[in-house]
Amino acid sequence: MQIIKSIPPLRETLKNWRAKGETVAFVPTMGNLHAGHTRLVERAKSEADKVVASIFVNPAQFSAGEDFGAYPRTPDEDIEKLRETGADLLFMPDAQAVYPAGAATFVEVPGLSEILCGASRPGHFRGVATVVCKLFNLVQPDVALFGEKDFQQLAVVRRMVADLNLAVRVVGVPTVREPGGLAMSSRNGYLSEAEKQLAALLYQSLLAAQAALEAGGRDYRAIEAAQAEGLRGAGFRPDYFAIRGLDLAEPGADETAWVILAAAWLGRARLIDNVQVRV
Ligand code: PAJ
Repeated sequence: MQIIKSIPPLRETLKNWRAKGETVAFVPTMGNLHAGHTRLVERAKSEADKVVASIFVNPAQFSAGEDFGAYPRTPDEDIEKLRETGADLLFMPDAQAVYPAGAATFVEVPGLSEILCGASRPGHFRGVATVVCKLFNLVQPDVALFGEKDFQQLAVVRRMVADLNLAVRVVGVPTVREPGGLAMSSRNGYLSEAEKQLAALLYQSLLAAQAALEAGGRDYRAIEAAQAEGLRGAGFRPDYFAIRGLDLAEPGADETAWVILAAAWLGRARLIDNVQVRV
């Protein structure tokens, strides 16, 4: 696996691959890799000839007071995992390469960026859209893989790709979970052992709401409120618990497919998860 930290050698390597007619799959990450990330890399191998992963903790997607400084950085372990999983190239730029001095251009995806996680993290999806657009311009992948765990992020990226006519196919990959059901996340490291046990309740609450929809329940507000209340009683501080259409719009009474999304604080960690339901 090649490890490249600056832009000119990245472009050079990609040019050589393209000259041979090889296709490129891309997996952007912020590092501290776990089995969710390596699943994306595995899937990427089946989508193209070469797999590029990136590790960049993107300052633009953290608000003031969020965990940018504390975000776990484990480059040596990450490199080992990517090597084992079979990535061909790891791009690890520094902040100056991604955001040159005086950088003034940002990518905004209004609407989708302001709801759900965007409501409590203003500017977050602007930072995500901007860095993903930049990374797409640098890597110029044929296909890029994103986890469904970050369902809203995936929706923002798809919207941006369509709106900017980007020539990349976006593939969503199902959420990888711990044996107890907790969605894997770099932020799970903020949880104590006891909190980790409790954290599986977030997924359980989504499954309970899923069961309510499958049983014919259509009082969305009541289902949401009941699950949020249950989480609160168990010691979470829920940010939202929302039943939406797959496009993240408010669902109608005759909807047949939904995504149920939740975000909740547990101790120091803000956890997010979602499940899709079809009837
Ligand atoms: P990060 O949180 O490192 O996640 C990188 C990719 O891994 C994202 O597409 C995310 O959805 C996916 N992922 C994380 N946990 C997963 C899980 N348990 N199962 C499946 N996929 C999972 O998301 C980001 O970084 C950043 O916002 C980024 C897109 C890199 C832009 O900075």
